[in-house]
Amino acid sequence: MKCWRWRSNRHRIYLFFACASLLLLSKHYLTVTVPIDEEDEELNPVDLKEKEKEKIECEPTGAVETKCTADNGKPLRCWKDEEEVYFPFSYIKKRFDMTGKLGKDGSTFELFTSYAKMRTPDKNYYPLGPFGHFSTYSVETRDRVRCISAKTGISDVPMSTQWDPIPYYYPIQIAQYGLQHYSRIKLDSVSNKSDDNAEVLVGVQSKEWKGAAGMHETTERLFFNDEEKGKVVNISAGHALSNAGAYVYLDKSPDLHVISFDWKPYDANSSFTVLAKMKQDDLLVLINYVFSEGDGKCVWQDEEKSFDDETIVLKPRKDGQVSYSYSYSGSAPIGEWSTVTRDILVDVARALSSGENRKKDDNVVLHPGDLRLVSLGFRGQLTVRQQIAQRKEQDSHAFRSSADWLVENQDKKGGWAVPVERSIADRKLVLPPGWHSAMAQGHGISVLTRAYNQFNDKKYLSSAINALELFKTNSSEGGVRAEFFGYIWYEEYPTTPGSFVLNGFLYSLIGLYDLSKLDVSGIYDDSAKTKVKEAQEMYSVGIRSLKQLLPLYDTGSGTIYDLRHVALGTAPNLARWDYHAVHVYLLKWIAGLEKDEFLNKTADRWIGYAYGKRAKHN
Ligand SMILES: *[C@@H]1O[C@H](CO)[C@@H](O)[C@H](O)[C@H]1NC(C)=O
Ligand SMILES: *[C@@H]1O[C@H](CO)[C@@H](O)[C@H](O)[C@H]1NC(C)=O
Ligand SMILES: *[C@@H]1O[C@H](CO)[C@@H](O)[C@H](O)[C@H]1NC(C)=O
Ligand SMILES: *[C@@H]1O[C@H](CO)[C@@H](O)[C@H](O)[C@H]1NC(C)=O
Ligand SMILES: *[C@@H]1O[C@H](CO)[C@@H](O)[C@H](O)[C@H]1NC(C)=O
Repeated sequence: MKCWRWRSNRHRIYLFFACASLLLLSKHYLTVTVPIDEEDEELNPVDLKEKEKEKIECEPTGAVETKCTADNGKPLRCWKDEEEVYFPFSYIKKRFDMTGKLGKDGSTFELFTSYAKMRTPDKNYYPLGPFGHFSTYSVETRDRVRCISAKTGISDVPMSTQWDPIPYYYPIQIAQYGLQHYSRIKLDSVSNKSDDNAEVLVGVQSKEWKGAAGMHETTERLFFNDEEKGKVVNISAGHALSNAGAYVYLDKSPDLHVISFDWKPYDANSSFTVLAKMKQDDLLVLINYVFSEGDGKCVWQDEEKSFDDETIVLKPRKDGQVSYSYSYSGSAPIGEWSTVTRDILVDVARALSSGENRKKDDNVVLHPGDLRLVSLGFRGQLTVRQQIAQRKEQDSHAFRSSADWLVENQDKKGGWAVPVERSIADRKLVLPPGWHSAMAQGHGISVLTRAYNQFNDKKYLSSAINALELFKTNSSEGGVRAEFFGYIWYEEYPTTPGSFVLNGFLYSLIGLYDLSKLDVSGIYDDSAKTKVKEAQEMYSVGIRSLKQLLPLYDTGSGTIYDLRHVALGTAPNLARWDYHAVHVYLLKWIAGLEKDEFLNKTADRWIGYAYGKRAKHN
């Protein structure tokens, strides 16, 4: 095997060499470069674990193998020439938690201390503008997002499977979904990307509505004018999924993957189906939206029973075609008009990722162009407006869905309870289902203040104000307020004893800031003004704590995720590089709000750690 060496400094003892087998490492590197896209959730760093690597079996030219030991006598393969000693990069990588990447042609090698990119806000923050860099988020493609729920009709929001295999609503994720789409709207309006709102209408002509004539089924279509909706079609068709029902062909442009239409189903046997075709392999994907609970699965693959040696075998329906169903039950009204908006690109990707025993690597991410829509079909008894819109994006719908979900699902305490248990520190700290998070409260406020401004509806303001209550309640009482040596802290995980997670606290401060800057001068009663002042006070108290406690998170070469070790007496929970990057971004964000030199300098020092700088030792 051909080898080459890479030297940075001839005078140093430690030099690295790499050979062709390092290609494996570069592949590994690609899988670990995570953009800052973390709702805070303490990811299991499985993707960062050392993978089995080929032993480096080649030697640096001119060097001879030498007996080496490392850290208390552990034998280590190494080589030596007159000037240097060479160690395998796999050792350096593991020992110093580094990352390396071979250049494209394999003749260069780059060493990284941090695998995560350090980013800082590029503009001054404006509380009604984009939320940080969230426009680059992609909540709907996260592997832990089971699907965007079709359940509640107006509130199409993500459902998580992170801490429970049965999909559940995770308020932080839902708020991030809203903030992501809001940030995209704001950026698009700055760059005048209004063509993203352009829509194509299909089904306007009655002749576009086809009827499947099955053996036992007929499909009736009756066109008439509805007083409210204009041209509509009454459909009466068999309700079995095998029946194509009444359908329209959709626009073929692969950009137009969002569909939106008004319908009125008359019973719970009505359903609609989008047929999409994958570009890569012509696979036909049927996505059915049915009034079934589907055992709470959100989306599942439809199977067809076949009899094989007298045992029933469940198998996917057909070769070259797969069929999935989304649960459309819940509050979707029967016998009333409602609007359906679905991003089929997202729905197909979540469906294809929904296998029973799926692994992280099975996550399917699709991009515009990866599929095109073929048709939209309806079954059962229903009326549909003769206007099916196809668009490029659904940012406004997603943002509003998130805000509406928050308003409708806020509990009496003003909180958004997490319905699953959360345990941290090897179950030393356990939050039973129903816990609240300062990060959810803060993110919720950030969504709702924007929604209030955007839609001018007071319900969003009231909801944002109600979210403040838990900031006043101690963790032990079901709130999110804790103290660390007398300093007030807002807990992402309100454990007892406290855990003092840094990034969740910082996000909660941004939420308080957003509310404290909200213009409520047009509101008639004074209570809103009082509450806005209260948010201002809570924010200031938090900033005071931040300035006092921040040094505790600094290791001199990286940062610490939380302060659980203080109460538990365990090892400190060092932040992974991607969380370090989140710390840096948030600290710069708040340093900008506060025009604070100490916070700014700390953030700059933390950026240095990612490039190998370390604090001085004695
Ligand atoms: C967007 O449009 C507005 C009004 O038409 C104009 O003032 C502004 O300069 C445009 N911005 C960009 C980035 O083109
Ligand atoms: C459309 O179908 C519904 C339900 O079957 C029915 O009540 C209604 O009268 C129909 N409308 C027309 C114009 O036939
Ligand atoms: C749905 O279909 C089933 C099976 O044909 C039937 O028994 C049931 O009454 C139908 N439900 C409604 C609400 O029409
Ligand atoms: C909340 O905790 C603080 C100390 O952290 C304590 O002084 C206060 O009495 C507690 N409040 C309630 C209502 O328990
Ligand atoms: C923060 O530091 C940067 C340099 O790293 C400087 O450009 C910026 O003006 C500083 N901001 C504040 C608020 O001190």
